[in-house]
Amino acid sequence: MHSKALYILATLGVAAALRPNRTTICDYYTPLILGKDNTPASQQELMALITHTFILGNYTTPNVGVKVDGIAGPKTYQNHDINLLPYFTAAYNSTNRGGKATAVNFLDDGGAAALLANKPSNTTNSNQYRLLTHVYQYFGDFYGCSQQGSNDFPHYQGVASMWEVHKFMDPNLWESGYFNEQIVLAGKSVGFEDADVEYTRTGLDQTFTYRCIPPAAVIPPSAGPQLQTICSDVNSCPLAANANCSAYPNGGVLQYPAIVNETLLQGVPKENDTIGLSSSASASGSGSSATASGSSTASGSAASPSASSTGAAAYTFGTGNPLAVLGGMAALLLTALAL
Ligand code: HEM
Ligand SMILES: *[C@@H]1O[C@H](CO)[C@@H](O)[C@H](O)[C@H]1NC(C)=O
Ligand SMILES: *[C@@H]1O[C@H](CO)[C@@H](O)[C@H](O)[C@H]1NC(C)=O
Ligand SMILES: *[C@@H]1O[C@H](CO)[C@@H](O)[C@H](O)[C@H]1NC(C)=O
Ligand SMILES: *[C@@H]1O[C@H](CO)[C@@H](O)[C@H](O)[C@H]1NC(C)=O
Ligand SMILES: *[C@@H]1O[C@H](CO)[C@@H](O)[C@H](O)[C@H]1NC(C)=O
Ligand SMILES: *[C@@H]1O[C@H](CO)[C@@H](O)[C@H](O)[C@H]1NC(C)=O
Ligand SMILES: *[C@@H]1O[C@H](CO)[C@@H](O)[C@H](O)[C@H]1NC(C)=O
Repeated sequence: MHSKALYILATLGVAAALRPNRTTICDYYTPLILGKDNTPASQQELMALITHTFILGNYTTPNVGVKVDGIAGPKTYQNHDINLLPYFTAAYNSTNRGGKATAVNFLDDGGAAALLANKPSNTTNSNQYRLLTHVYQYFGDFYGCSQQGSNDFPHYQGVASMWEVHKFMDPNLWESGYFNEQIVLAGKSVGFEDADVEYTRTGLDQTFTYRCIPPAAVIPPSAGPQLQTICSDVNSCPLAANANCSAYPNGGVLQYPAIVNETLLQGVPKENDTIGLSSSASASGSGSSATASGSSTASGSAASPSASSTGAAAYTFGTGNPLAVLGGMAALLLTALAL
């Protein structure tokens, strides 16, 4: 067949959504996007590519012409100033460690430079390594990677309750909405078909982005029903249609995280959060008063356009979770919708 005919077919294909409904998102796009067989390493590579893209913004090929800004730095979203980076740099007491709000630096092992080199971190023993590999695993399960489950690419090994993970951050609607949007755009930028982009959007929205979502078994399903609300701020996050606030401690009402290092806020504190902010008077109110003195450092200076392999093969975690492959997003969506 001539290449022009192939091109037209491919173009039509994208418009017509060619993914067979029995092939998972992960299994479909790994060969299509990376040109590799479905293996634990290649499927993890695709999840790493998507993860790094929603963190840093689009930084490498493949990219079908979709710009992704990424979560790393001060942004404006729906007329609200947000900055998610300080949650990762120990600027807030916002990480749950043993039920206590603590400040943790997750960029402790190579930072953006490691991600730009398509690795989770420099070494395999750091906050950064554990976070990044857990997120690859989560999205692997989310998108139904059939090759997941061995030491080369384990099933998700982190905490099953997204509420427990994120509760000390007290995410508001714009923080959560922006994060979701970057995940959605990352998939779109590597070539997800429209239906799969929308599937991602709906899954994130329905599963995490309402207050008081009833306990749901998401990832791993074997963990059983867990509190999953991420968007928890009472002033901005909408209540779930089937909300059960009694299922959440304190009715699902959280507190703003305390600011531990103001410099790291880059001039953009969390909207209305003045706990520990020295210049607190000017930061309250609409959230537009904070001066954006910090430069947006996230983009990185020299992103190499050529992607090498992930270099993330050496896992030090225990045995893979012997879960059956449960259909990833399909299971997730069904769980969310059944409630
Ligand atoms: C406001 C938006 C969000 C912020 C600021 C945020 C921030 C963070 C931070 C700082 C951690 C490390 C926590 C720890 O190790 O205890 C984390 C972990 C994680 N986040 Fe988020 N996140 C957000 C939204 C999301 C969304 C939408 C998802 C999608 C499912 C997600 C999935 C995860 C996962 C899977 C982990 C790993 C938990 C573990 O290792 O046990 N996050 N997040
Ligand atoms: C899957 O695709 C087949 C063939 O196109 C169709 O008959 C079937 O209804 C689809 N199933 C679902 C659940 O969408
Ligand atoms: C990000 O994507 C946009 C749109 O395709 C493109 O113009 C830009 O060059 C990309 N940036 C990088 C660093 O690849
Ligand atoms: C942050 O938490 C630590 C204990 O984990 C505490 O010592 C410190 O005072 C807290 N910082 C603020 C600003 O509340
Ligand atoms: C990570 O590796 C890079 C490149 O080898 C090096 O420049 C950087 O200092 C390392 N960072 C840490 C925290 O080890
Ligand atoms: C901050 O406070 C203003 C004024 O009360 C309110 O309109 C806005 O929704 C609040 N923002 C958040 C994130 O709670
Ligand atoms: C709401 O949660 C509470 C506490 O877990 C539980 O006792 C109650 O049955 C739940 N309500 C509904 C309608 O599920
Ligand atoms: C706050 O962060 C800045 C930038 O990393 C650092 O130079 C400073 O030492 C930190 N301050 C404290 C009190 O930890």
